[in-house]
Amino acid sequence: MLVLGIETSCDETGIALYHTERGLLGHALYSQTEMHSEYGGVVPELASRDHIRRVLPLIRQTLAAAKLELQDVGAIAYTQGPGLAGALLVGASVAAAMGFALKIPVLGIHHLEGHLLSPLLSTPAPVFPFVALLVSGGHTQLMEVSGVGRYRLLGETVDDAAGEAFDKTAKLLGLGYPGGPALSELAEEFSRSCKPKQFKLPRPMLHSGDLNFSFSGLKTAVLTLTNKHGITQQTRGGIALAFQEAMVEVLTEKSLAALTQTGLTQLVVAGGVGANRQLRTSLSRRAAEMGSVVFYPELEFCTDNGAMIAFAGAMRLQQAGIRDQPAGSFTVRARWDLELLETP
Ligand code: KG4
Ligand code: ZN
Repeated sequence: MLVLGIETSCDETGIALYHTERGLLGHALYSQTEMHSEYGGVVPELASRDHIRRVLPLIRQTLAAAKLELQDVGAIAYTQGPGLAGALLVGASVAAAMGFALKIPVLGIHHLEGHLLSPLLSTPAPVFPFVALLVSGGHTQLMEVSGVGRYRLLGETVDDAAGEAFDKTAKLLGLGYPGGPALSELAEEFSRSCKPKQFKLPRPMLHSGDLNFSFSGLKTAVLTLTNKHGITQQTRGGIALAFQEAMVEVLTEKSLAALTQTGLTQLVVAGGVGANRQLRTSLSRRAAEMGSVVFYPELEFCTDNGAMIAFAGAMRLQQAGIRDQPAGSFTVRARWDLELLETP
């Protein structure tokens, strides 16, 4: 069966076609980053309006590129939540209308379930059960993933998400939005310059004895540093590196502790911060020391995308007992606890 996936939870319109036997047949993404960068963050109303503009042309473009017709689609999966309510409504209403017209099942997917299952789109793919470190702009969680719909929260951030901390710190340093990639580049550049390290920042909750995170204090520590030393050509790189090192150490050590606690040996990293090179190097090195393996989905599947939604939809449709929603009706859930998901 061919599943059309629609992702519109935040500032990316993602469309994909996943075939239950033939795999991923096509996907396309339109990122609104440039539009929001002017405001230093996502403007929800602008995001919704842009999804409206992009979603149908992107569906047409994805179908055409895969040489498929609308009539070939056997089911539609869309992101039902969590996310920006208005943005979610665009994907949900398009999915419901198309499903009604084509008389095919429509399924609302949890955005984080999409992220958790996305590593299975890559080769080599992990096998259940595994530990997932979900590090995005909105979420920082360690989950035990035992199968489709079988997720156990091991720990999460008590305040800012990892990506949010990267973005806020980048803003403090006068870098653009979203600042994560720019901050990480600056840190790497400083590292390559072989200049002596000037600063060291705290490792919040490193020894808390649980698998929770806290990043808002780190941002405040950066603010204190910038107030004291100023933001100059000399200090900026050093601060960026100190920040990144603190983030990477905490994320690495907590992920390893999650592997030890669960007795599992596979770690999957999903979400935009998973693109961070220093994090990848650190996780792989430390995991190898304890005989574990780390899986990184390709970057395009790490960040928000339609493929993970089409794939999660396909997995769920194959499970017995999962109901699609009544024709023509839809709801979105701006807030939605992953652990409340229906287990097949
Ligand atoms: O998963 P994602 O694309 O979107 C959601 O938040 O759902 O994650 C985006 C986040 C942003 O906060 C961005 O700054 C961060 O991922 N990010 C990075 C890097 N690339 C993206 N953070 C640190 N280092 C990077 N290389
Ligand atoms: Zn996401």
